[in-house]
Amino acid sequence: MTTVGVNETIKFLRGVLPNAPANVLEIGCGKGHVAKRLSDLGYTVTAIDTNESAIKFAQGLGVNAHVSNILKYQTDQKFDAIVGVRALHHVSDLSLAVTSIKNLLKSGGVFALEEFSRENIDHNTAKWYYDSEYLLEASGSIISRQNADLLRNPKKTPELEDTSPQVRWNNRHTGHQPPLHTGQDMLNEVLKQFGAESVRFQTAPYFFRYIISGIEDKISFDKVEKTESDANRLAELYLKIEEDTIEESKIKPMGVRISVTLRDGCLTYFLL
Ligand SMILES: C[S@@+](CC[C@H](N)C(=O)[O-])C[C@H]1O[C@@H](n2cnc3c(N)ncnc32)[C@H](O)[C@@H]1O
Repeated sequence: MTTVGVNETIKFLRGVLPNAPANVLEIGCGKGHVAKRLSDLGYTVTAIDTNESAIKFAQGLGVNAHVSNILKYQTDQKFDAIVGVRALHHVSDLSLAVTSIKNLLKSGGVFALEEFSRENIDHNTAKWYYDSEYLLEASGSIISRQNADLLRNPKKTPELEDTSPQVRWNNRHTGHQPPLHTGQDMLNEVLKQFGAESVRFQTAPYFFRYIISGIEDKISFDKVEKTESDANRLAELYLKIEEDTIEESKIKPMGVRISVTLRDGCLTYFLL
């Protein structure tokens, strides 16, 4: 497995989570790679996802994972931290999800969110991404997202590649059911429900994660022999180029990281 993506996420989480041991809930954990790494770091992790096969995979890694929906999740436990990695933009009811997360946190607990701001796209950013993806696919290093989708589901309508890159990107990210939330929607909801005082916000690179999926799809669909260190080297190189190109303001950062601490409840006393 290419570890560069999970390493980047863990770097962010280690900077904002309370020290281990602390009990952490991961929502929308997928196959559980982040939950596994947090457990290895000494956290007591519970991980949930609505996808049964992903949860089975996570359980196979030894993660305490359950099929559950964050909109309905109930437990007597309260958590020191709740983590969402590219999950919140998919939930059907963003406001209810954030309320549920808030109710599951201890006072002083941390909610950490690694997400993407699909609305940040502009012409140069979309063109840079699609051009780099074409080049890597033509060199035999990856399978593009579009072609991987078609391999998984040949009946899927192909993307319109002859349209402008920005329109192509927007076409891909609209029409989802439920609709995908934007980075700004998620930030606004966190600010609304947690208050602005303790919110930390940073941008991050994001396309390298698609390239990592493309490397892994190439290995599994085309049965390509690639060592983990070769795959990691390519992913690291792409990440470095993406970071530099953002730094030079040639493309926009599509990733976003938000963390917030639940303030102590405020008690009001009435003197009778
Ligand atoms: C893009 S995947 C990210 C998976 C994983 N966190 C990762 O980074 O690889 C989004 C995940 O959120 C899960 N999900 C979507 N809505 C959910 C909900 N309401 N409650 C729990 N999980 C949810 C999906 O099943 C999916 O596994």
